[in-house]
This record gives sequence, C-alpha cells and structure tokens, in this order.
Amino acid sequence: MNYKPLFSRALGLDPERLHFAAHSHHLWPDASFDGQVRAWAEANRFADRKWDLIFGEVIPEAQGHVARELGLPSPDSLIFAPNTHEILLRIVSAIDRAAPVRILATDVDTQVLATASRGVYAIDRVAGLDPAIRKRYFQRGTGPNEGHCRVNPALRDLIDYRPLNLLATRYDVGGPFDALFCRNVMIYFDKPTQRGILSRLIQHMGDDGLLYTGHSENYLHAADLIQPCGRTLYRRAQGAGA
Ligand SMILES: C[S@@+](CC[C@H](N)C(=O)[O-])C[C@H]1O[C@@H](n2cnc3c(N)ncnc32)[C@H](O)[C@@H]1O
Repeated sequence: MNYKPLFSRALGLDPERLHFAAHSHHLWPDASFDGQVRAWAEANRFADRKWDLIFGEVIPEAQGHVARELGLPSPDSLIFAPNTHEILLRIVSAIDRAAPVRILATDVDTQVLATASRGVYAIDRVAGLDPAIRKRYFQRGTGPNEGHCRVNPALRDLIDYRPLNLLATRYDVGGPFDALFCRNVMIYFDKPTQRGILSRLIQHMGDDGLLYTGHSENYLHAADLIQPCGRTLYRRAQGAGA
C-alpha cells in the first residue's frame, strides 16, 4: 500500500503547521477516513443487510490480508476485537461451561505457587483490566482486605497448582494439553537447555496443541521440535514428540 496520499492529506489540512517528530508515523494520518465514509455509505445503502456485507465480505477479506501478512495458514483463525481483554472475554464466554476446562499452573518455586493459588492482588495490579472483566472475575476486599481483590472462586477452582522443575528429565503433568503457556522463563536457559525443555514440553501437547511463548523468546533453533504459526505462537513440528 502507498501511504503517501494519507500523509499528504493530513499535511494538507494545515499546511502551515510544522512537525517535529521522531518518526514519520507520529503524524498519524487518518488512514481510516475512507473506510469510515464507505461504512456510512454502505450502512445507508444496505440498511438491515449491512451485517451480511460486513461478515460475508469485509471481515473475510481483512482476515485474508492479515493472515497473508503474518504468514498464517488459515485466515479464519483470526478474530477482530478492540482489545485483548475483549478477545479473552469472547473466548471464555464461548466455552461450554459444562465442558471440563482445566488449567494446570506450574512453577519451580513453591512460594510463587502459594501466592498464585491465593489469587489475591493489590487493586492497582488489576486497575488496567477491562471493568467488565474486573467485575466478572474479581471480588473486591472490604475491611482488613480493603485495597485488595481476590479472583472469583469459580475461576480459581478451574486451576490446579503444582511444582514443576523445567530442568527435570520428565514432567509428571499428564495431558495432552490444548494450550501451553511458557513465557519469560526460557530466557534463563541456554539453547541446548531450551531444546531439552521443548522436547519434554511437546510430549504433553495435543496434536492441535499450541505453545504460547514470550515476546523476547524465539525458537528458530528448534524448528525440528516446534514450528511458528503466528507471533509468539508455535505448534509441534511434524513427527516431533511422537
Ligand atoms: C520472569 S518469571 C515469569 C512468570 C510468568 N510466566 C510471566 O510471564 O509473567 C519466571 C518464573 O520462572 C520460574 N522458574 C525459574 N526457573 C524455573 C525452572 N527451572 N522450572 C520452572 N520454573 C522456573 C521462576 O520461579 C519464575 O516464577
């Protein structure tokens, strides 16, 4: 896409204005202007059928663009939402509550596990969460617990806490798991150690299982074990861990 017309239009709105910015995008031209105008025109034209157009054409086209850009195999694996919490809310609210959703949380440090299993946080630690999430999943402390909040027992009871040393030769955790979150831990280990951990982790991943990693971690050196399928997201490599 050529962004020049967008910048030209933004600059043209106030040609006398001087810009001092570290990056050209700080000018932030209104890239959505044409889209907004089109959305108004189409809502007027299609009226009650406008959502057919959005969900039938616009969203699949946008999914295609993003999937191509990110090299994802399946555009329909993408959903759009204004923020991460809303995505999480949608996922959680889409889970069949009768389905046995279980979460296993592990750490080598038992103090960390004890803190996590209490599920008590200072209010300011959750201040950035979407108010709907806060309301639904946290209880506000009163009296001596003023200034703190506690994760709702219904959510807390979905989680088992167990000690696990990633350096152990085998993990006694069961599985297979649909999703593994291993973030900001591997940074402590060198590549051979990371490979060892990954070769054990993938034993516990289901065939369609996903491994979520931290933003500063990458496992290109372990492509025979796990394959990227999005940013910070991996699948088990074909034939690995079998
Ligand atoms: C930087 S924190 C990351 C916590 C969390 N995953 C996150 O992203 O917020 C690193 C955690 O790794 C744990 N850890 C360090 N070595 C470990 C090991 N050998 N096995 C399991 N956990 C380990 C530490 O106890 C600590 O809780």
